[in-house]
Amino acid sequence: MDTSFEFVREFVRNEAGIVIEAGKEYLVESRLAPIVRSEGLASIDALVQTLRGSRQTELHRKVVDAMTTNETTFFRDIDPFELLRTDLLPKLINARRLSKRLTIWYAASSTGQEPYSVSILLREHFPELKDWRIEQVATDICRKALDRARAGRYSQLEVNRGMPAKLLLRYFDKQGLEWQLKDDIRSMVTFHEMNLNGAWSRIPQCDIVFIRNVMIYFDVAAKQRILGKIYDLLRPDGYLFLGAAESTMNLDERYVRMPVNRAGCYLPTGTGTRT
Ligand SMILES: C[S@@+](CC[C@H](N)C(=O)[O-])C[C@H]1O[C@@H](n2cnc3c(N)ncnc32)[C@H](O)[C@@H]1O
Repeated sequence: MDTSFEFVREFVRNEAGIVIEAGKEYLVESRLAPIVRSEGLASIDALVQTLRGSRQTELHRKVVDAMTTNETTFFRDIDPFELLRTDLLPKLINARRLSKRLTIWYAASSTGQEPYSVSILLREHFPELKDWRIEQVATDICRKALDRARAGRYSQLEVNRGMPAKLLLRYFDKQGLEWQLKDDIRSMVTFHEMNLNGAWSRIPQCDIVFIRNVMIYFDVAAKQRILGKIYDLLRPDGYLFLGAAESTMNLDERYVRMPVNRAGCYLPTGTGTRT
């Protein structure tokens, strides 16, 4: 397993920029075991042997997918969404009142809870946006997560994690044991596959970028490269959201953190107050 572990580690780092720490053999084993079973292989060593024998097959994709962590919830950490509702969106709506356009990018959207939370927030609280062009692009490397996101279908457990009952009943239909997000909200977001550590395509200039809880898996050089590229995409009066435990500190000093509790919101302009 030692050399197989090293192979997977190296492979996932090269493909996705995801750093698997030494000693995490158990993680690789538990993530790859379902693939070993479904492919009818004898062991992880056999899986690695197959991977070594070819390049860029469907199996390679499955291994990358399996090594991603897709943990997410609706309205995760709530503070960013409150900040958007009470402060940032009113400001942006005022600033863009002539063009009537807003662009939001979710750079690691996983199974869709993050972009759909914002979409519901927009519908609930900003009826004045009805005739605006709101472009919401959501990307992720994981195909399985993207498929689920596009479907907009969630288990009871998933909606229990963050979706208030009132909004659940208003924006979802119960179908069997699951909850189907209504098309009206689903159609507000376009999902496509994109590797943050590969070539970036189809990402427009943005008013808001969410890149929460993904760079924790990358090394410093990758974080710096990504934050630099986002800086160029973000409008000067736009906003960047990182996860609650993440920071731009010592990575890209051009961002300034908004002094708002745990919102993880950064300005690219240096006009805020450093905390
Ligand atoms: C923990 S989830 C975060 C989801 C959401 N942003 C949130 O905060 O709730 C991390 C996501 O990053 C994605 N990811 C990991 N490496 C990536 C890469 N190189 N490019 C794009 N997405 C990546 C994973 O597939 C996963 O869906």
